[in-house]
Amino acid sequence: MLTVIKHPLIDVKLSIMRDEKTHSKEFRESINEIASFMCFEVFKDLKTHEAAETYRTPTGYTLHRVKLDDKIIIVPILRAGIGLCDGIKNMIPTARIGHIGMYRNEETLEPVEYYFKLPEVKNPLVLIVDPMLATGGSAVAAITACKKRGYTNIRLMCLVGVPQGVEAVEKAHPDVHIYLASLDEKLNEKGYIIPGLGDAGDRIFGTK
Ligand code: PRP
Ligand code: URA
Repeated sequence: MLTVIKHPLIDVKLSIMRDEKTHSKEFRESINEIASFMCFEVFKDLKTHEAAETYRTPTGYTLHRVKLDDKIIIVPILRAGIGLCDGIKNMIPTARIGHIGMYRNEETLEPVEYYFKLPEVKNPLVLIVDPMLATGGSAVAAITACKKRGYTNIRLMCLVGVPQGVEAVEKAHPDVHIYLASLDEKLNEKGYIIPGLGDAGDRIFGTK
């Protein structure tokens, strides 16, 4: 299932990120802000409970602390996925973080896995994050890698995707809900998203 999260604040931030003149600092700030906004939709169905712990309000009421039922693991696909983590962590400070190392072979566009480490948490909700969903190869491989290790409750958050990438994930993993901030038009001959925002990893880390 695909949800494209439409919101004017997201559109404003995305247009900053798409601008080739935007430097790494503003690019990183914008990506984290969009990630925070997206949490409202991605996690809107989470259940909460009132914990035994209580606190008092300034008006003298005693209330129970409200906590999330689910244990959440945020899993950035290295490298560019790291760019979204602070924004999500700001919304869910109790979330744990795992990492999946994956890069695209620039000629074949096939994903290559080089690292996998998730924290030990029982029955977590795993949110895989990556700014770009292009051919979908990296996302499909990351989801497969999680399922191979026994994770079943998985969601995918990307900023910009194209129909080809969405179809690839939906075909391989129909149980995984995909969230995007924008569904762009297509890929160019080098596998870059059009209009897109360029190489997300390079722009986040200033490597080019
Ligand atoms: C980018 C991006 C995704 C992948 C998307 O990573 O962050 O992981 O490409 O492309 P796909 O849908 O065709 O697989 P890249 O391989 O450039 O690695 P990086 O994050 O280290 O820059
Ligand atoms: N990876 C990127 O960083 N950008 C794209 O447009 C496609 C894949």
